[in-house]
Formats: sequence, C-alpha cells, structure tokens
Amino acid sequence: MVLRVGLTYNLRKKIAEHEGLPEDYYIEFDDESTVNAIASALASGGCRVIKIEADENAHTKLRRCKPDIVFNIAEGTRGESRESHIPVILEMLGIPYTGSGPATLAICLDKAMTHKVLSAYGVPSPKFQVFKRADEELDGNLSFPLVVKPLLEGSSKGIRSSSLVRDEKSLRKQVSWVIKTYRQPAIVEEFMPGREFTVGLIGNEEPFVLPIVEIQLDKLPNGASPIYSYEAKWVWDTPEKPLDIFKCPADIPLELDEEIREIAIKTFKILNCRDLCRIDMRLDKEGTPRVLEVNPLPGLIPDPNAHSCLPEAARAAGFTYEELICTILWQALKRYGLQNLFKNKHLVKIP
Ligand SMILES: Nc1ncnc2c1ncn2[C@@H]1O[C@H](COP(=O)(O)OP(=O)(O)OP(=O)(O)O)[C@@H](O)[C@H]1O
Ligand SMILES: [Mg+2]
Repeated sequence: MVLRVGLTYNLRKKIAEHEGLPEDYYIEFDDESTVNAIASALASGGCRVIKIEADENAHTKLRRCKPDIVFNIAEGTRGESRESHIPVILEMLGIPYTGSGPATLAICLDKAMTHKVLSAYGVPSPKFQVFKRADEELDGNLSFPLVVKPLLEGSSKGIRSSSLVRDEKSLRKQVSWVIKTYRQPAIVEEFMPGREFTVGLIGNEEPFVLPIVEIQLDKLPNGASPIYSYEAKWVWDTPEKPLDIFKCPADIPLELDEEIREIAIKTFKILNCRDLCRIDMRLDKEGTPRVLEVNPLPGLIPDPNAHSCLPEAARAAGFTYEELICTILWQALKRYGLQNLFKNKHLVKIP
C-alpha cells in the first residue's frame, strides 16, 4: 500500500499596489519552490503526495481526499489562531498530521502568551508589555533600548531595523505603526544585547537537538540595528547575494552549548511541541540565554543560500533535505503508531 500524504500550505502572493499592504504582508507564507521541494522529498520517501492549499475550502478538500497523514506547513490565512486552523480541521476529521497541535500553535503565535507560559516554569524570556493603543503608559519595569514587534506574526513580519527603539518618541512611532499597519497589538520587549542563537529540535519524548545556529548580527550592513529584522532576512540577504549570516555549529563554550540545549528541550516539553520546532534565543546583558520566541512551524526552505535556520542545522547534522522531511514525517507516523506505513526507512535519520 502506498502512503498517501496530504501537504497543506499557504502560498506567498504578490501584493497589488491598490491593496495598500506593507511589502512583508504575505512573507509568512511559502514559495511554490518550497512546497514542491517538500512534495519531492516525500515522493522520494515512496509517498503519494496530494497538495492542498490551506484556503477556506481546505476542510472540503481534506474531507474528500482523506489522506493517511498530512504534512502541515500551513500558516493560516487570518486571525489570532491562524496556525491552528488546519490542525483543528484535521483533528475534527480524524486525520493524523505532522507537527504541533492547535493549542501549542496558538500559544506560540502569541509572543506574550509564550512568555507567560515559559515564565511560569522558570524559563527566562525578556520583560515585555503589550500595547493595544500607542498612547498606553510605558511600564516602569521596562528600560530602553526596547524592541517593538507585532504580537502575532513570524518571519520578521513587521520587524524593521527601526524596531529597535532607544527613546520614548521612537517607541510611540513604532508602536503606532505596528498597530495600524498589521491591525493587531504590539509587543514591546527589553532588548537582549548579546549573541543570538536558534535551536532546531526533531522528535517527541526525547527530542533530538540539532547543531545550534548562531545568527552573526555583525555581518549585517553598517548602520543596521543589531536585530534579525525583515530587511536582514529578506532584503539584504538573498539567494542571489547571500550574507554570511549563519554559523553552524555555533562556536561557543561547551557550558553555554549545554545550557542552550537544556533550555530548548525544556521549552519544547513545556509547550507540548511535536515532531519539529525551532527556538530563538538571545543572551541578556549578563550572558544568560533568554527565549525570544518559539516556532513550532519553522521555515523549511531547501536552498542553502536562502538561509532557512532549521534546514541549515539539519545539513550541519548531516541530513539531506529528503532525510529531513522524511524524518519529520516519520516522527509523526511513529506518534500515531503508523510507522510501518513508511517504506523507505533509510531516509529516516532519527529512529
Ligand atoms: N527582545 C529582543 N531582544 C533582542 N533582539 C530581539 C528581541 N526580540 C526580537 N529580537 C530580534 O528580532 C528578530 C526577530 O524577532 P522574533 O524572532 O521575535 O520575530 P519572528 O517574526 O517571530 O521571527 P521568525 O522568523 O523566527 O518567525 C530576532 O531574531 C532578534 O534578532
Ligand atoms: Mg524568530
């Protein structure tokens, strides 16, 4: 029997000028080349792939074709629970799927909620405040510099070099821009000035921690704020003209390596992440790693020059792209007790 795998995704759209949307409005969504690369990787694992765009008709399409399992990379089209939409539908239809469940995805999309949950378990994250209006009083516990971000986005959508603010006037301006442009609250966090790392994990009960990636912010153009902004990810660093932004494995002392891994595993478990996840961290001024945010639907761009963190870490661990994708699928199949349905076991790197 051939394993029928649904592949759910949202495609990046071009923005028409009359829409008046910011240039990063659809940046969270995937390029067709990524969707096709995942489909080919699954096909090389012996699966029959059914591509399903995660639009408003996704429920009908999934109900009709009833795949054995879904490989989900859909970010969802709108709303504070957008990343949970497909997992909720799949749960309702009784179709297994890769990755975290609706609650984890909704919590991790909300950066403030993530901080609250992690702090309840003693995992350090930056001090923060949520602004629903630009004129709310700044919490006296927060000190400049601060970072202003949309509360519910990823891929550095709404994060510009100007998001690092050093005074009240720039803070107000940035908060007001975020609320107006992205139609959601802004989260304002204390700026963590130290080195930045991101950690990919694959698996479940005892997740496998991939080699740590350092984001070398000193490789950004002169004058850029030391943050991994939209410009840094998508404008200054392109596959045609890549910046040497990643160092993987990160060149760090063993003790820090262990501390980061420990925090990553703890965070993964607290938030009930499944199959794959990527956790962003930065050192505070004392040199302690703090969790900036958690990505249970991390980017999976195949081109090494596109600088996608989880595939980069997997490459450093010796995985081909096919092995990465098939290993993620396998982890999900195993959770459901369906691993015998996957035939090409040589592509599974973590049993
Ligand atoms: N509190 C902070 N202190 C220092 N730098 C920060 C802070 N918050 C964000 N940054 C910088 O901004 C970048 C983007 O922030 P963050 O990871 O929260 O956004 P995102 O859009 O969810 O990113 P992703 O592409 O990982 O989904 C970080 O990688 C980091 O460089
Ligand atoms: Mg991030």
